[in-house]
Amino acid sequence: MTNDQLLIGFYGFLSVTVVTLLVAIGLAHKHRARAHIVAVGVFLVLLVTSLGFAEVLGRRYEFDHISYTIHLPLALFTSAFMLVPLITGIQHWRGKVTRKAHKVLAWVWVGFVVASLVTGKWMLDNGTLKPEYATPTVDERPGPD
Ligand code: HEM
Repeated sequence: MTNDQLLIGFYGFLSVTVVTLLVAIGLAHKHRARAHIVAVGVFLVLLVTSLGFAEVLGRRYEFDHISYTIHLPLALFTSAFMLVPLITGIQHWRGKVTRKAHKVLAWVWVGFVVASLVTGKWMLDNGTLKPEYATPTVDERPGPD
C-alpha cells in the first residue's frame, strides 16, 4: 500500500470513528440507551481498525522526540482509561452506578481522546517519512536510458 493510500485510510477511518463516538454520545443524551450501547460497540470496532492503520503508518515515519514522548504515553493512558466509561456504562446499565457518574467519567475520557488526537496530529505533521517509503521525485525516477 502506498503511503498516500495509508494516510487516506487512516484519516478516513479515524474520522468515521470520531463521528461514531459523537453519535453514541448524542444517542445517550436522548436516552436511547440500547442504540447508545450498539453505537459504542461499532465505535470500538472502528477504533481498533484506526489503531491498526496508525500502527502501520507509525512504522514508516521517524518522529520528533518531544512529540513522540508526549503523544505515546498519552495515547496509551487514554486507551487504558477507556475501560472507565465502558465499565461504568455496564454498571449503570445494571443499576449499580449513577448516570451522572458514568456521564462525568465518559466526558473526562473524551477530554483525553481530544488531547491524544491533537498530539497525534502534531506528531505525524512533524514526522519524517523514512527514505524507503518516500515517493521518488521526478529527478530521482529512472530515466529512459
Ligand atoms: C466509550 C464508551 C462510552 C461513552 C463515551 C459513553 C458516554 C455516555 C454519556 C456521555 C452518557 C450521558 C449522556 C447525557 O446524559 O448527555 C451516557 C449514558 C449512558 N450510557 Fe454510556 N458511554 C459509554 C459506554 C457505555 C456502555 C458500554 C454502556 C452499557 C453497556 C453504556 C450505557 C449507558 C446508559 C444506559 C446511559 C444512560 C442512557 C439514558 O439516559 O437512557 N455506556 N453514556
